Amino acid sequence: MTHPLEQLRDDALREIGSATDEHALEAARIKYIGKSGSISAWGERMKTLDKTERPVIGKLLNEVRNAVTAALETRSAQFRIEKESGALARIDISLPGTPGEIGSLHPLYQMHERAIQIFRRMGFALAEGPDVETEWYCFDALNTPPDHPARNEQDTFYLPDGRLLRTHTSTVQIRAMESASPPIRMIASGAAYRRDEVDATHSAQFHQIEGLYVDENVGIADLKGELEFFLRELFGSETEVQFRPHYFPFTEPSLEVYVRSKALKGGEQWIEVAGCGMVHPAVFEAVNKSRGDNAYDPEKWSGYAFGLGMDRLAMILFDIPDIRLFAQNDLRFLRQFA
Ligand code: DAH
Repeated sequence: MTHPLEQLRDDALREIGSATDEHALEAARIKYIGKSGSISAWGERMKTLDKTERPVIGKLLNEVRNAVTAALETRSAQFRIEKESGALARIDISLPGTPGEIGSLHPLYQMHERAIQIFRRMGFALAEGPDVETEWYCFDALNTPPDHPARNEQDTFYLPDGRLLRTHTSTVQIRAMESASPPIRMIASGAAYRRDEVDATHSAQFHQIEGLYVDENVGIADLKGELEFFLRELFGSETEVQFRPHYFPFTEPSLEVYVRSKALKGGEQWIEVAGCGMVHPAVFEAVNKSRGDNAYDPEKWSGYAFGLGMDRLAMILFDIPDIRLFAQNDLRFLRQFA
């Protein structure tokens, strides 16, 4: 004979099997195994049963409840799968996807990396300094007197508090010597700022690689030989390098550096790429004063320094006609260096 619990189970399974959506399924759950469902009611009824009957019916009740719960879960999973595949059916998987854009290094950064790689092989360490500077680091410590045109408000970006955007990376020479005793061999690469008339070769923000080498008996032959080596590594061994006398307050003597190479576009032309010279004793004295010692005794130490125009180097290396292209963010330009 079928027990009423088995009857209830069969009714529940039939109802679950024929439920057409989640709502119908939930109604069946409440009806049979909800708090006051007809199967749950048998839990209460157990207490009234005979002691011998109780374990048998208890076991049956468990089996019935498990069977119904399992059926509910199976049917619910079926609904979920149907819903998901229905949504997927509306997606055209043959459509092309949205391609991910892959970025690349900016040509100026590529230039920076190439230069640093060469200088590293030559034993230079990389130093850093801030873009916003004091007049001391930008001018005074670099033997640049108050009446020097570089300090003119028309030429330099001053902040209301008297600080300024550095007009060259030579500031890092001072910072490096303040924090380390000689010998020192460092380069620094970064932005510099001037109120220049903007045109194809001038920009209010440009980039430099600064170099400084201080040791005993550093001479101008070291300066010329090492800069020549660097420029030939960068532009090729046929590159000609020329040094022309010039004036900078922080070096004595001072030189400008020009390159020419048949391997490069515009090959016949001499192009200015750097300023350089032997560190002026007044620069060492300024550093000593700020350090409060005589570590950079100009009687004992000598040094050379240089400042390379990084934008200029990149324009020669990559044959770029206009400095403004570096800052315009035009993807047609930037993609050529990817
Ligand atoms: N600071 C100079 C400029 O921006 C370039 C320069 C010249 C740097 C001579 C030096 C140097 O270190 O020795 O025009």
